[in-house]
This record gives sequence, structure tokens and C-alpha cells, in this order.
Amino acid sequence: MIYTVTLNPAFDKTVEIPSLTVGAVNRITGMRTDPGGKGINVSKVIRELGGESTAVGILGGRTGRMIQDALEAMEIKTGFRFSEGETRTNLKVIDPVNHTNTDINEPGCSVPEEVLNGLLGDLRGELKKGDIVVLSGSLPKGAPKDTYGIWVRTCKECGARVFLDVDGELLAAGIREKPYLIKPNDNELSVLTGKKLYTLEELNREARALMESHGIAKAVVSMGERGALYLTERETICAEGLRVPVKSTVGAGDSMVAALAVSEESGRSLEETVRLCTACGAANVMCSGTQAAKYDVISGLMHEVVFHRL
Ligand SMILES: Nc1ncnc2c1ncn2[C@@H]1O[C@H](COP(=O)(O)OP(=O)(O)OP(=O)(O)O)[C@@H](O)[C@H]1O
Ligand SMILES: [Mg+2]
Repeated sequence: MIYTVTLNPAFDKTVEIPSLTVGAVNRITGMRTDPGGKGINVSKVIRELGGESTAVGILGGRTGRMIQDALEAMEIKTGFRFSEGETRTNLKVIDPVNHTNTDINEPGCSVPEEVLNGLLGDLRGELKKGDIVVLSGSLPKGAPKDTYGIWVRTCKECGARVFLDVDGELLAAGIREKPYLIKPNDNELSVLTGKKLYTLEELNREARALMESHGIAKAVVSMGERGALYLTERETICAEGLRVPVKSTVGAGDSMVAALAVSEESGRSLEETVRLCTACGAANVMCSGTQAAKYDVISGLMHEVVFHRL
């Protein structure tokens, strides 16, 4: 089973505003809402890929119940704990004229440590050897900075393969516990290493050094429209990004993580994994909001993926 963990979920409200102007009245020409937060986005894409996952995390209030109901309507299994307060609503503004995405995110409410520990205990009770746990996204207010370190360690003790997709100090804390896979983007890898990394060679070299020094089996460094590097212990594949019409780049990385988890679970080859991940990322940017792309769009793009070994 694949478990996705979203400790700071959000109800995503995506609006379209042509020529968004600060300090003026702006008119919305289109709107949609989606249950969101990075782990939840991963679960939605896994569902679209025909896979199964259980979305776990912390919700609050009426907004929290709306998220749980929406996931259950999508036939995604859930294992949330409810905490005090209201799950946040995040506003995403797409401007189709200026081709910009503007995110306005609420901070979310704080979560007591006993709720976090209770959720981790629930997960520990469920995990079996060989399961995959995807840890991604920000932490709720009040959560200790090394929360992901604790979660990585605990899930590994249960025999799970842990995928870590977080940034900044949360990534630094999480990788100390040797997750199975990390998926930083180029900027996140630069911040982590304290070096300005841009070329494929620089990104490959630093990601490999990190894998070797920390005992991480797999790393994927995504580079937005430039594509991504896929590193295993033995090799690196570089896949080019597909040229597709871009509606919203929000969640492209989450789509890629979903494809990585499904590929890992089904034992796909590295080449097949690269095709699925690249197609999923590209199909995601063709959609507005954080809804998952449709499987026929993804499968149509898989044949167009171009990659080479570094
Ligand atoms: N503009 C784009 N055109 C085509 N493919 C894209 C584009 N942006 C992203 N992708 C695909 O999606 C993958 C992941 O994107 P990206 O590197 O932006 O992830 P990210 O920064 O982690 O995103 P997020 O965390 O917001 O979900 C890329 O490696 C690429 O294959
Ligand atoms: Mg990301």
C-alpha cells in the first residue's frame, strides 16, 4: 500500500482573473475547488493512474470534513485525525493574459504534538514491510522542525520505503534519517547544498554526493520545463520536459511523486518510470487548479518522452 501524509492540508480555491491588477477590483471569470495539500495531490494522481493509496493527515472543522468527503467521493481511502480549528483555504489566482500563477496561502492552524504523535501511532499500526510512505509539504504551526526526521525513522523501522518531498530545513532534517527517495527541484537542491546549481552536471554531481553521504537509494531532481534527472545507485537518466500548453504549474512535482510511487510499487524499470513521471508532470501543467490530469492525456504523452543517460 502507498500512504501519503499531509500534515498541513488545504482546501484549494483556484480562480481565473484575466489581467490581475494589485490595488484594483478584479473580476473572476472561472473558479474551481479541490482538496489540496501536497500529499493529497499525490493521492489524487495515484487514483488517476489506477493505483491505490491511503491519504492520512490532520484536518479541522467544516473545511476538513469537506476535504475528507471529497477524497472519499474519489474513492481514495483516508486515515485523518481531526484537530482543533479549521483547515486552511488556499487561493490560487491564474492570469491567462499575463500567464502568471499567484498563490495566497493561509498559514493554517497549529496542531498539538499529541495529535501529531497520535497520527504517527495510527500509521505505525497500519504499515507493513514494503509499503511506501510519501512525506510531503509544509508542517502545521507548532510542529517541531525535526518532525519529518521522526516520521522517516519510524516508517523505516516498520519496513516502509519513504519518499521525502519537502524543502529547506524540513528536507535537511528529513534526509538525516536516510529516506529511500528524495525529490528536490533544482532550487531546493541549491538551497540544501548552499551552492547555486544550474547545469545538468552540477545538479547530478551534487545529488549523487548527497545520496552517497546520506545513504539515500534514489533521487529525482526536477527542473520544471527543463525536465528532470533520475538517479539510482548505478546510473542517471536525464529526461527533457515535454512542450505542452501551460495552464498552471502548481502540483507538477506532486504528480511526478505520484508516478514515482506507482512505478516503485509495481516494479517498473527506470526507463518506464521516467516516461510515466515526465508525462504526469506535463499533463499536470496542462490542467488548471490542483485537479489530477486524466489518464488518457498522460498515456498519450508517454510516447513523446525523450531521455538520455548522463
Ligand atoms: N512548464 C512545464 N512544461 C512541461 N513539463 C513541466 C513543466 N513544469 C513542470 N513539468 C514537469 O513536471 C516535473 C516536476 O515539475 P517541477 O520541477 O516544477 O516540480 P516542483 O518544483 O517540485 O513543483 P511543485 O512542488 O510545485 O509541485 C518536471 O520535471 C517536468 O517533467
Ligand atoms: Mg515540489
